[in-house]
Amino acid sequence: MYKKDFPFFKNSSVVYLDNAATTQKPKEVVDKVVDYYTNFCSNTHRSNHGGANKATKEFEATRDTLKDFINAPQSKQIIFTKGVTESLNMIASTFAKEFKTIIISSLEHHSNITPWHMQGRTLHKGLEVVNAKDNLEFDFEHFEELLKNNPNSFVSITHVSNAFGVIHDIKKIAQLTHKYNSYLLVDAAQSLAHFEVDVQDLDVDFYAMSSHKTFGPTGVGALYIKENLLEKLPVYQTGGATINDVSFERSIMLDAPYKYEAGTQNIAGVIGFKKALDYLNKITLKEVYKLEHELCTYLYTQLKKVENIILYNDTKNSTGSRSFNIKNLNSEDIGILLDKMHIAVRAGHHCAQPIMKKLNIDGTIRVSIAFYNTKEDIDIFIKGLKKAILMLKD
Ligand SMILES: Cc1ncc(COP(=O)(O)O)c(C=O)c1O
Repeated sequence: MYKKDFPFFKNSSVVYLDNAATTQKPKEVVDKVVDYYTNFCSNTHRSNHGGANKATKEFEATRDTLKDFINAPQSKQIIFTKGVTESLNMIASTFAKEFKTIIISSLEHHSNITPWHMQGRTLHKGLEVVNAKDNLEFDFEHFEELLKNNPNSFVSITHVSNAFGVIHDIKKIAQLTHKYNSYLLVDAAQSLAHFEVDVQDLDVDFYAMSSHKTFGPTGVGALYIKENLLEKLPVYQTGGATINDVSFERSIMLDAPYKYEAGTQNIAGVIGFKKALDYLNKITLKEVYKLEHELCTYLYTQLKKVENIILYNDTKNSTGSRSFNIKNLNSEDIGILLDKMHIAVRAGHHCAQPIMKKLNIDGTIRVSIAFYNTKEDIDIFIKGLKKAILMLKD
């Protein structure tokens, strides 16, 4: 029903089930990017002519829309970045750098692991990892034990696992984090597109979002910062557009959010992102969640019927992605055969090698859905999967 809103599906017959890697873009997003480059391509927050004022106005409108989208108190608490990866690196190399201990979960994407390694932290030497239970759920007992032993820490946890779709109970994680006088950053790469988020209710300190995972352009992300931290967060990069006054003796920075946005931004991407949020607001995230939940449940039931399947978690507390293996077959081989049948999934480690190592596997086949997918997509995929299994067995 919704595919008609996405130009990709008009031009391609691919059954697209790789939405955790990136999502397709509604026509409004593509049109807005073209509109910017065609009709008012100008820099923001600098010149004072018609095109520049329009670009600045639309750029700031995205900030306002995103503020409402996640129920942040003020627009200045949203800063634009290149994506979740840049937001995580920014916080790791500024605010979180001085903390003795960083606590992450077992299900983190490499983007929330390597920035900590780059600081010389390794397991039990400045970096602690919360266990995942056998069904991959977050082990709260272990988390509290880590916090008890390491109060005043920095906790950095994904909202939803990109590899398995497991949803972490961020509200409960935030309560425990703050009980032990620690701070919480949440990686929202896989949550923003799937269900309603209220950063005040969750009580997170930082919330790192990605436009391209949320039906917007690539190369754009946003970071929500709790108000009391705006003054405490050091600037990451400086330069054009971040300063109030500069002499050869000193630089006086602008206030947030501008002091955190150095250099010319991805203007087309940011203003395109607003159109993706507007589109989602029109459908409503309640509807998105409902549609995806039905699809995920259907997918799970169909997968369970496949011979020799290995599933790692059930549909409870999960969304978006579903990972599996077929006994004695290589996930990448299955991925290649599915591609030949025009079915796009991801096979491999999904930038989450540590959890793959814990599970003693090289990777999985990941089917990741969005609300525009249909039961028919899943039926085609299941048929293709069975065919690939037969071909590889021969
Ligand atoms: C859980 C998670 N974190 C971080 C990232 C990186 O996000 P971005 O592409 O916005 O840098 C991804 C992308 O796959 C992800 O799935």
